[in-house]
Amino acid sequence: MTDLNILYISIEGNTRSFLNRLASYAEQHHVIDAANPAVHLKEITDQTLPAKENTPFFVFVPTYLDGGNGFDSGFTEMMTNALGEYVEQNDNASQCMGVVGSGNKNFNEQYCLTARKYSDEFKVPFLADYELRGTDRDIERIYAILKQRAAEFNA
Ligand SMILES: Cc1cc2nc3c(=O)[nH]c(=O)nc-3n(C[C@H](O)[C@H](O)[C@H](O)COP(=O)(O)O)c2cc1C
Repeated sequence: MTDLNILYISIEGNTRSFLNRLASYAEQHHVIDAANPAVHLKEITDQTLPAKENTPFFVFVPTYLDGGNGFDSGFTEMMTNALGEYVEQNDNASQCMGVVGSGNKNFNEQYCLTARKYSDEFKVPFLADYELRGTDRDIERIYAILKQRAAEFNA
């Protein structure tokens, strides 16, 4: 199976930590059985130049919102905009297989709202969510979801 490419942004390091652990987990499983895809990570920052993605990828985005309640009064994405812009440009959204969101459940209805917004905006499936740095169980669960989605996408 082809490797899983993941684009992400991480302001405080939780998403980076989760994805480095996911990549290690994938590598261990790939060594045991080459049918298990390895994971390639690409971090997007405010310094990342626009580029065209030529291979399918997943997006992992944490949630940082300013104002509103996410429903009737709207909200504004902050801190993570570079990732949304990168996906939007160069027709990259057409290569996006889906989005995984993270956040903190203390934010109630706004939990993972940026990923839900990306899902609507780019018309890609919202695949999964996890809180903060995620647990080992989240890593297993989300790796399985990505694997299945990539297999469907490439079928
Ligand atoms: C200023 C601020 C605003 C946040 N707003 C939300 C929010 O609206 N919804 C949510 O689910 N999590 C929210 N979070 C939690 C972050 O999404 C969570 O800590 C995430 O793991 C951060 O990922 P990162 O460390 O990779 O940047 C907020 C955190 C901060 C510091």
